[in-house]
Amino acid sequence: MIAPAVASAITGAHGGTMHSRTPMKARVLVLGGTGFVGRHVVAKLSAAGHDVTVLTRSRERGRPLFLLPTVRVLEGDPYDAATLLRRTRNADVAINLVGTLHARRRDTFDRVHVALPRMLVDACRQGGVSRIVHMSALGASAEAASAYLRSKAGGEAVVADSGLRFTIFRPSVIFGSGDTFLNLFARLAATFPVIPLAGASARFQPVFVGDVAACIARSVVDDATIGQRYALCGPKAYTLEELVRYVADTSGHPRPIMPLGPGLANLQARVLELLPGPLLTRDNLASMQHDNVCEGPFPAEFGIAPATLEAIAPEYLAPVSLHSRFDIFRARDSL
Ligand SMILES: NC(=O)c1ccc[n+]([C@@H]2O[C@H](COP(=O)([O-])OP(=O)(O)OC[C@H]3O[C@@H](n4cnc5c(N)ncnc54)[C@H](OP(=O)(O)O)[C@@H]3O)[C@@H](O)[C@H]2O)c1
Repeated sequence: MIAPAVASAITGAHGGTMHSRTPMKARVLVLGGTGFVGRHVVAKLSAAGHDVTVLTRSRERGRPLFLLPTVRVLEGDPYDAATLLRRTRNADVAINLVGTLHARRRDTFDRVHVALPRMLVDACRQGGVSRIVHMSALGASAEAASAYLRSKAGGEAVVADSGLRFTIFRPSVIFGSGDTFLNLFARLAATFPVIPLAGASARFQPVFVGDVAACIARSVVDDATIGQRYALCGPKAYTLEELVRYVADTSGHPRPIMPLGPGLANLQARVLELLPGPLLTRDNLASMQHDNVCEGPFPAEFGIAPATLEAIAPEYLAPVSLHSRFDIFRARDSL
């Protein structure tokens, strides 16, 4: 039997834009939909009327998605071929947002970033899903110093060589309410009088999660994005030191920052990576050896002017008292 996505690609039966052969209201399977980026992507897909299935290892993690219309959160093992096949049989499009910055004993980078995409691609082929959208990372390269970035390159290769109609996204660090990156530095600034900083001169070009999610949701129905790899960055690049100073100041805890040389940075990472849910690992340090910035502007095809950090971050980093003052102003304005 020909799966609906494949059939519509042939007949155009579901209509859509000139570029689009995926149904405008598609059945979308999302892996990694419970995460920081995933929650935004799923909300955008739901708002666009897509029928979304989130496959998660823990349904509880999907709680913030429960009330979204057209979304169902199903618990299952994404590494189980039969589970994946069952889910792809009822989908037109698969989106893979699974990722981790910290390899664990069983969940090596290769398992999470290469083996899982391979299993998903196989399930898509068998289940009749011809369209896949895959999340990689800026700087992913087989030659990267970091195992995280090498494994991300491996995942890209699996998807690009799959024969499926793919789109790959490669964002720099992503910010927005609930992010790990800026919130981590806000917590450090709140806790310590001085911030010893590894990789202080590494450069990043943070991109807003709402913009990333909008691109991913749009790519689902825009076949002009097929075969493309999009680097996604915000409008401005910063050194890590500039970012940390901005976060500390904005969160109401201005702190002196002490950049660490390579030796001390390595020592710090060696110690921190022993902690559960480590703050920093030597592999994270290795990934900072190259600037995490885009060569060109935000991809024009999405029609997005990427949000600045300064426009968004104060909304969730600013101290509560400042929030309250904003709320008072807003309340006054709405009267
Ligand atoms: N956040 C950033 O700054 C950033 C920058 C560049 C690229 N990315 C990429 O964007 C994607 C989403 O990132 P995020 O920030 O949303 O991450 P996140 O909040 O940590 O969420 C990651 C998701 O992946 C799944 N996952 C995590 N570890 C897994 C494992 N060992 N096996 C199977 N599934 C696992 C989780 O799903 P369940 O627990 O529900 O199963 C979770 O929903 C990732 O691929 C990441 O590499 C993120």
